[in-house]
Amino acid sequence: MPRIGIEFNNVCNLDCTHCFRSIYRGEPEKNRDLFLPLELLEKVLTEAKPLGYNHLAITGGEPPLHPQFGEALELIARHGYTYHFLTNARNFSRTLQAVTPPARRSKLAGISFSLDGATEATHDKIRGEGSYREVVTSIAACQALGIEASIITTINKVNRHEIDQLALLGAHLRVKRQIFGHQNPTEHNSAEDLILPLSEWRSVERDVARLMTEFRHEISMAVGFYTDYFLPRCAPLTLDDLNIDYRGRLTLCCQLSNYRDSGEDGEDVVGDLKRQSLADALTNLMNLVNRVHHERLVMSQDPVLKEKLHYPCLVCIERFQKTGDEPMLVQMEK
Ligand SMILES: C[S@@+](CC[C@H](N)C(=O)[O-])C[C@H]1O[C@@H](n2cnc3c(N)ncnc32)[C@H](O)[C@@H]1O
Ligand code: SF4
Ligand code: SF4
Repeated sequence: MPRIGIEFNNVCNLDCTHCFRSIYRGEPEKNRDLFLPLELLEKVLTEAKPLGYNHLAITGGEPPLHPQFGEALELIARHGYTYHFLTNARNFSRTLQAVTPPARRSKLAGISFSLDGATEATHDKIRGEGSYREVVTSIAACQALGIEASIITTINKVNRHEIDQLALLGAHLRVKRQIFGHQNPTEHNSAEDLILPLSEWRSVERDVARLMTEFRHEISMAVGFYTDYFLPRCAPLTLDDLNIDYRGRLTLCCQLSNYRDSGEDGEDVVGDLKRQSLADALTNLMNLVNRVHHERLVMSQDPVLKEKLHYPCLVCIERFQKTGDEPMLVQMEK
């Protein structure tokens, strides 16, 4: 299903060790420009509808920290879109209040929770004290209220041994869907020695593939896993997923947006919806997508470079200069 990925903000109440976003962590009230303005949200909703988009995937930052979170959901519902959002589950009772009014609730497709360990010790080591309990109790609250919950886990050195336990926990919590993804390198998470060497990525994928057959709930691997398709078919490069950042710019992919190590905007920022229409920005995006495919075609003809194409997201991180050389070298170590 085609969807609009949209960042509601660039603020967060956690400071996860693995996080690839360059997040502002001060007082939200002092930085209003870190929140997506509702006029821009409305513009996106209006201009994307005729193109066939009718679902919003909301991310951030921590989306419920938007001071007009409830109003934003109301707007989305009024425009006839369904939506889901990702959350770290902090202050979840307030989040629940925001989704409860009937119009908002009727368009809520589900809530995705980030869970980075099957045990309190592991999850809290990455996400901070108290977080594990918040996630688990919030998922249980969704269950009781009939809200579809999903889990998303980023695999790294700290939690790699808990993949099976994570699936068991997902089954126990009766989540609809559970997604595992590789952790993209940043200077920070590399310095914290979180990144698994690339040689271990395929064994992670094999573990997840095994779990897919062993459990009844849907288990999958997020894009970024090993592939022999050298012209990537990921949702951003097929335009099935559009990504709009908290400043209202159209960008290639949420995985590259506002990246922790990159000081300034990269070529992945293709348009500014404050100044131009979505159609105009999409024209730039289509040109970029063509360039990316063409570059990969050229790489695929080179015996050395083509080996990189097995991990398409790492190619993007390097291509769009999202991080310094060091984390990528650590990543490529066999
Ligand atoms: C940036 S967060 C925003 C939503 C919300 N704050 C949360 O944590 O769920 C979106 C997702 O990206 C994941 N993520 C963060 N850093 C990552 C990295 N270096 N590589 C891959 N995924 C990462 C998070 O764990 C989370 O599931
Ligand atoms: S992963 Fe999510 S909760 Fe953690 S610091 Fe990043 S934005 Fe915040
Ligand atoms: S980082 Fe690149 S390859 Fe990965 S999902 Fe985004 S656009 Fe596709």
